[in-house]
Amino acid sequence: MKFGRRQFMTQAAVGAAASLAGGGTAQAEVLFPKDPNKFGRGGSTTGGVSRSEQTLYDCEIEGKLPVDLDGSFFRVGPDAQYPKSQQFEDDIFFDGEGHVSLFQFKNGHVDFRSRYVKNDRWKAQHAARKSLFGYYRNRSSDDASVQDVRRASHNTHVWVHANRLYALKEDSPPALINPHTLETIDSNYTFGGAYTAETFTAHPKNDPETGEMFAFGYEAKGLGSTDINVISVGRDGKINWSAWVNAPYCCMLHDFAVTRRHIAFLAIPMAYNKASPVHWAWDNTKQPWLGVMRRGGDGKDIRWVPGPMNMSDHTMGSWSDGDRFFWDMDGADGNRFPFFPHLHDRFDPVKGQARVRRFSMDLSRKSVRNFDMEVLYPDVTGALSRQDDRYNVDPYRYGFLVSAWGSKGQGWTMFDHQKRTHRTFMPGPDAVLNEAVFAPRRKGAAEADGYLLGVAHLPKENRSEVLVLDTQDITAGPIARVILPGRATPQIHGNWIPGDQLPPG
Ligand SMILES: [Fe+2]
Repeated sequence: MKFGRRQFMTQAAVGAAASLAGGGTAQAEVLFPKDPNKFGRGGSTTGGVSRSEQTLYDCEIEGKLPVDLDGSFFRVGPDAQYPKSQQFEDDIFFDGEGHVSLFQFKNGHVDFRSRYVKNDRWKAQHAARKSLFGYYRNRSSDDASVQDVRRASHNTHVWVHANRLYALKEDSPPALINPHTLETIDSNYTFGGAYTAETFTAHPKNDPETGEMFAFGYEAKGLGSTDINVISVGRDGKINWSAWVNAPYCCMLHDFAVTRRHIAFLAIPMAYNKASPVHWAWDNTKQPWLGVMRRGGDGKDIRWVPGPMNMSDHTMGSWSDGDRFFWDMDGADGNRFPFFPHLHDRFDPVKGQARVRRFSMDLSRKSVRNFDMEVLYPDVTGALSRQDDRYNVDPYRYGFLVSAWGSKGQGWTMFDHQKRTHRTFMPGPDAVLNEAVFAPRRKGAAEADGYLLGVAHLPKENRSEVLVLDTQDITAGPIARVILPGRATPQIHGNWIPGDQLPPG
């Protein structure tokens, strides 16, 4: 951009005043690029970032909110704290700082609150009033001043176990969050030093029968390593089992499967590449591998078996039937994230469309050449699989998905695997749907009997709302809408936690 003399003098005067106010140092501009494809996705004007911590007592509610819907709907997502310096402004959305939000449902009322995770990264940038971290999971691109600062963003998922609320990002240990105030209690929680892996999944699983939480860390001995540490945590919050296994190569292991008998990982060709600025690159010369091990064992029995090309990342459900293992995920035939580089081919939007797939392996057979993969519903594409979380480790019947219907917009689809049918709620083409979570109608309710909740963004109205659907017929539309005056914070995942599963506030 060229300045005329008059403009230049005005700018110079502003600059001089800023210099004086700043004690002689140059003033950094806090402004995100307008391009929604850049880091910050256009900034505040497009709703790409929120950056504002909010407290709203008694949200407006339209419709009839069930008075017995008692619990906490937690969400988290990457909400860029500062624009990146120009050389890193093409960094990916996934690198934004974790911002947790809470819709607290009680007695027909809903209170809203949101807070950033106050981890070391957030504190360093807050003090500096600028971004100090470079590309996604790329330590070498970070500012010299933060080379020893943990770069954990805690922006992917929120999980509750043993009265603790975790904010999670798979490249770091969890952060502990106060479930009522959302203030950060511990930004590098290691179970009292008992957890030694450098990383911790964003997708733990809870076993309602034993009260255990199962989790794992991959790249557990440092970025680029193939080491996986898988653990369980007892009702008392202490690690009660730990095993180490190795992946066939270092790649994204975003979710996993836990059944009553088995634990499984799916290695996919989104592989670690040292030359990639954003850690991963799609390498179609590599094969997907399914690794299944005995739950509670030492990990030496893990069997890795190759299978058809796919990129699957979220578990809908999994179970074991004797020695036969089954795992449903949403997955595509190729890379589904166009923002990661390709090593040998180009992003293909058709191959990138995901559908619900069922992976299986018969472990009673001594020789298994390939794992099996079946596409369950060829007519439904989508992402962000969920289920009734009380069935995380058991055979299950119902699943949920954010589905995509072209010009008709998005939907929330509920699958009935027993009947192999599905029903979809569609809010209209102008709404952008976040992941939906399931809330049981009451304690002990039948599987998937209750409510489906999630945030819908309405870009034309520049605001968001929580839609509450009855799972008896989601096509009937929301029974209630919890209305925010502006846009909700960005979200990757969320969770419904019944009121009796949290300590009193
Ligand atoms: Fe995820």
